[in-house]
Amino acid sequence: MIPESETEGRPSRPAPIGAPPVIDMDDVVHTFKGRRALDHVTFQVHAGSLHGFVGPNGAGKTTSLKLICTLLRPQFGEVRVFGKDVVQEQRAVRQKIGFMPDHFSTYRQMSVQEYLDFFGAAYGLTYRQRTETIEQVLSLVDMDGRRNDLISGLSRGMQQRVSLARVLVNDPDLLLLDEPASGLDPHARIELMEILKALQGMGKTIFISSHILSELAELCDSVTIIDRGRVKYSGSMTGLLDRTGEHPTYRLTVGNESEELIDHLREIPGVMLAERIPERPEYRISFDWTQTTTNDLLRAIIERGVIVQGFVQHRKHLNEAFLDLTERGIR
Ligand SMILES: Nc1ncnc2c1ncn2[C@@H]1O[C@H](COP(=O)(O)OP(=O)(O)OP(=O)(O)O)[C@@H](O)[C@H]1O
Ligand SMILES: [Mg+2]
Repeated sequence: MIPESETEGRPSRPAPIGAPPVIDMDDVVHTFKGRRALDHVTFQVHAGSLHGFVGPNGAGKTTSLKLICTLLRPQFGEVRVFGKDVVQEQRAVRQKIGFMPDHFSTYRQMSVQEYLDFFGAAYGLTYRQRTETIEQVLSLVDMDGRRNDLISGLSRGMQQRVSLARVLVNDPDLLLLDEPASGLDPHARIELMEILKALQGMGKTIFISSHILSELAELCDSVTIIDRGRVKYSGSMTGLLDRTGEHPTYRLTVGNESEELIDHLREIPGVMLAERIPERPEYRISFDWTQTTTNDLLRAIIERGVIVQGFVQHRKHLNEAFLDLTERGIR
């Protein structure tokens, strides 16, 4: 018998409409040697979304991912993937998912080509199918030129790409990625994010874990925040921003500076603050999200004759929101 959690405000489960959620974690508890790693975890991920899974070290991210990809069995509660139970219908679940773990420890003495071919064969692809698939996945992760290299001789970023290519070999509908961006340089991070966006555009659902909320904010449409085995937030990224109670702030770069520009910005309905960033053609603008939307704000700026060269959300408040939701200290 699992005791009730003291978790305040567990997210409510909306009534299912149409297709089942792609991931459905329902009141999951998981304990290792008396220490509870997951404490009544409930959240859902919907089809076609790019869903971030964010939490500090020891929060329970990898444990959740292992449950979803059938490497662990839930001790209490249910985990369903595409409506199928991960214990009762393990095989059916495995056929639809691709899991990228947070390390690349084995198969190092294989070339990239051999490694992908090995997994293709394990998935039952014919020689011809494997040749075509390897071609496609290597091109997608931009590693065509390194197919004959030994995996042990690749940089970490390249190994991450090969790992992602391997996940794509069986053309999964759901990608489960455990901290794929960790250890990557900023260029490689951006490239990875672009690949993930492209995969989402191909209709795949992507579930990606990270320690850093702001890293996923641009990429993900929805997010679950977990800390010490408990879900602190699960829902849309915009919902999280609203919850912070802060007014969204943007950095506007203009191509035609003028004396009157600041007044034009301040007179836009809903704008609470507009200030020039010293010695740059840039302005910081905050607006009241209960009165206007980002879309309307940008339209109003353009209608006032401003040539917009950049319009980027200021992310500081996201990190603050994350720290507010999670606790400090060793888990
Ligand atoms: N195989 C295991 N044996 C014992 N304890 C475990 C095992 N796997 C996980 N744990 C414990 O479960 C808790 C959650 O671990 P988990 O790996 O899921 O966290 P995480 O969010 O992935 O952390 P990180 O960001 O460091 O990867 C931790 O307290 C961890 O020590
Ligand atoms: Mg982990």
